[in-house]
Amino acid sequence: MNQILSFRSPNLILAGFGAAEKLGPEAKALGAKSALLVTDKGVADSGIADTIKNILVKEGIGVEVFSQVKPEPDLECQDACIAAARQGKYDLIVGLGGGSAMDVAAVTAIMLTNPGKVTDYVGADLIKKPGIPTVLLPTTAGTGAEVTPNAVLSDPAAKGKKVLISPYILPRIAIIDPYLHVSMPPSVTSASGMDALAHAVESFTHFTKATVITDVFAKEAMVMISRSIRTAVAKGENLEARYDMAIGSLFAGIALANAGVNGVHALSYPLGVEYHVPHGVANGLLLPYVMEFNAIGNIPKFAEIARCLGEDVEGLPLVEQAYAAAEAVKAILKDMKMAHSLTDLKISVDAIPAMAKAAASNTRLLSVNPRAMTAADVEGIYRNCL
Ligand SMILES: NC(=O)c1ccc[n+]([C@@H]2O[C@H](COP(=O)([O-])OP(=O)(O)OC[C@H]3O[C@@H](n4cnc5c(N)ncnc54)[C@H](O)[C@@H]3O)[C@@H](O)[C@H]2O)c1
Ligand SMILES: [Fe+2]
Repeated sequence: MNQILSFRSPNLILAGFGAAEKLGPEAKALGAKSALLVTDKGVADSGIADTIKNILVKEGIGVEVFSQVKPEPDLECQDACIAAARQGKYDLIVGLGGGSAMDVAAVTAIMLTNPGKVTDYVGADLIKKPGIPTVLLPTTAGTGAEVTPNAVLSDPAAKGKKVLISPYILPRIAIIDPYLHVSMPPSVTSASGMDALAHAVESFTHFTKATVITDVFAKEAMVMISRSIRTAVAKGENLEARYDMAIGSLFAGIALANAGVNGVHALSYPLGVEYHVPHGVANGLLLPYVMEFNAIGNIPKFAEIARCLGEDVEGLPLVEQAYAAAEAVKAILKDMKMAHSLTDLKISVDAIPAMAKAAASNTRLLSVNPRAMTAADVEGIYRNCL
């Protein structure tokens, strides 16, 4: 209650079926004449990139396409996109895809106006100037990268992730159109959806930054995602489910942008970096085990999570309600046939000490976990996941 509330988001968010059509007039209103469309091969092959390109062309805006973004992009991939952008005279960057393409687009726009190398800006608030205008359009319902001030790049040499955090990473406009999500394969739908659910749960239980504002977004995100993730995976053409996932992920992203993540993401990074487990698969597997551990750190909030996830906990003692939240997530993973053990991911018990060491060193995230988590606790959670 004695907190100063602060809230950041893009200048404009357009969301709903057909919202992508607004890209043309909005880009024109920004004065764009020449745009670079940053995407990846999967999104280009699905035909979405052509649709978006045509929307811009119809407004008389020239468009070149860079479609070489890799999943979980590394610094080399990022530099390739910057080099392509420097060859043209672009006045707009459009990022189209999952978190991978949107993050590369956001960093490219920054590097067109800031000197030096990308690594000069790794960390918080190091970017000096706004980039050229960006519009981000997610094609997955997961990362929330369209509304966060973060961009995440892999650094295989350092066996880590590099995160750039700055208000200048936020796009000028975020456009969330569930039609763009229909072609997402079930495996991407489940993985990116679990990432979004992790963002909502972690922001809601963030030790220092959860506020009355972020809680509103986090709770509605949990309701929408948990009621529709199974259906979106089971039947990708179900538009109601795609709508819930698109808006739920947007809300989770807004919560993430203004509160943040903690234990789940700290423990998931070593799985991604060392074993190339996709971000959402790693978060999905770890989420219920970290929630089980964290529950006593904030019993009322974990009990509320259980209710948001649709659990009938009426009449149960509050502690049991809190533990029911983790069980609800396990049931989602089981129904979607997602990995729910390290063994499923072919990661053996011998790998645990090194992963635990790497995760425990992430004090940025662990210090804001709702329950104090030591290196031994981290190791114990990984062992529970075997
Ligand atoms: N910026 C942030 O705040 C933030 C937050 C969380 C994660 N991330 C980062 O986001 C990345 C992961 O993003 P992601 O989970 O969205 O996956 P992704 O962008 O890596 O895409 C995964 C795959 O799905 C395909 N795909 C995406 N949309 C599709 C569609 N509509 N139809 C057909 N194929 C489609 C892509 O081609 C790709 O092969 C990681 O690098 C992660 O670190 C960023
Ligand atoms: Fe995430």
